[in-house]
Amino acid sequence: MLSIAVFGSGAGSNFRAILTAIQQGDIPAARISLVLSNNSGAGILGIARANALPAIHLSRKQFPDERSFADTILSTLGDHGVNFIALAGYMKQVPPVVVGAYRGRIVNIHPALLPRFGGAGMYGMRVHEAVLAAGDTTSGATVHYVDEEYDHGPVVLQQTVPVLPGDTPELLAARVLAAEHELYPAAIRRIALNERTPGHHRN
Ligand code: GAR
Repeated sequence: MLSIAVFGSGAGSNFRAILTAIQQGDIPAARISLVLSNNSGAGILGIARANALPAIHLSRKQFPDERSFADTILSTLGDHGVNFIALAGYMKQVPPVVVGAYRGRIVNIHPALLPRFGGAGMYGMRVHEAVLAAGDTTSGATVHYVDEEYDHGPVVLQQTVPVLPGDTPELLAARVLAAEHELYPAAIRRIALNERTPGHHRN
């Protein structure tokens, strides 16, 4: 059973897509155990609360140092029995101690076709501005495992969308986001099914 913590900073539309897929039975053997945001006013926390799920605001600014912040994240995840993390519009760096503790158990969605248009500073609308500036005719979204380098770990799934004549960053972002809402549940479904395969063992 995947016991998932979703980390996000914004509207939470990807979280909503994942939650809906779980509620509809499209992702077997998975549940949302916790939603965590660095932003107390984030829509993603409101969606969690409306669904009676634990919604927790934790920000680096609440702590004197990185270590105490990371320790609190880890103890919170432990308290809720979390064994898998999905970053969904989380605009902060996950402390490396947390990445290390959940290695191979933490994924992210990025609004471009990695390895293009990834790395530090490539998030939100900046990604789509860069795609348009490069003149690419295709963009898309990527779900990948997270390691200590930004937007770097192995790819789980990608989905492409066309870049159309006259596109603005906002138009392209909306098209990519719609693709994300299909891609992220599909990627988590793939991981959940893989864990249930006979012969696959995990401590
Ligand atoms: C999504 O487009 C996601 O790919 C992007 O933020 C948006 C969050 O939307 N993430 C990044 O740019 C991370 N580097 P949401 O809050 O509605 O899911």
